[in-house]
Amino acid sequence: METELRALAARIAAASRLTVMTGAGVSAASGVPTFRGAGGLWRTYRAEDLATPEAFARDPRLVWEWYAWRREKVASCHPNAAHDILARWSQRPGTTLVTQNVDDLHLRAGSRDLVRLHGSLWELRCADACAAGTRPWRDDRVPLPDVIPTCPHCGGYARPAIVWFGESLDGRDVDRALDAATCDVFLTVGTSAVVYPAAGFVHQAKRRGAFTAEINMDETPASSLVDLSILGPAEEILPVIDNMLA
Ligand code: APR
Repeated sequence: METELRALAARIAAASRLTVMTGAGVSAASGVPTFRGAGGLWRTYRAEDLATPEAFARDPRLVWEWYAWRREKVASCHPNAAHDILARWSQRPGTTLVTQNVDDLHLRAGSRDLVRLHGSLWELRCADACAAGTRPWRDDRVPLPDVIPTCPHCGGYARPAIVWFGESLDGRDVDRALDAATCDVFLTVGTSAVVYPAAGFVHQAKRRGAFTAEINMDETPASSLVDLSILGPAEEILPVIDNMLA
């Protein structure tokens, strides 16, 4: 492990373009449940029952009760060492931080120019996509005053500004992530690498000649693809690499 971490630290130190893409595993140490790991959300709930437009159309109250629970959970959590180190790395020119996470702990840690592929738990938009309500607005209130929040523009239901299964990502975020796949080092941290298009960016980066690496608690479908797969907790491994960089 020491040799591998030194090798990765050397690559990161030498990189003029570094891209880091994170998943739920980076927030696990903060107490935010992952989706597919032990005790993960999708082990208790069916994603299609809660994180799809169909589910919202069927039962908006159920969907909002679930998101209200997640907001309350995340509100009681704090960024961990992994978030703090990535926030510092993100200040370095040529570094892009891309996340699948909707908890905004990277933002709370001070990350710069974060690419949020799947949206935010703390942003809402009009469920009816009224002209004014399509642009997300921030709402940090916990608890939310109404079980089902409404759009301040048209009075219709509001929904979390999160990309649900079956929905497209914002093209501008995809473009930024794709652009960042042209880099010297592409590092994924805490993702099971099964949800696309996010899981495809490391393949892109490899095709474009980047050194690719993965830090994850468990093996993933990307483990055999990347140049270096390091199994272990991000909040312990990133500080070691950071010290080597220092
Ligand atoms: N450090 C590093 N990795 C960890 C840690 C940790 N402390 N704890 C858990 N992991 C790993 C798990 O082994 C698992 O492979 O993090 C990964 C989390 O995987 P998922 O729960 O599938 O989360 P993620 O990859 O972010 O999911 C992608 O799927 O449900 C949708 O939109 C949702 O953004 C999410 C997307």
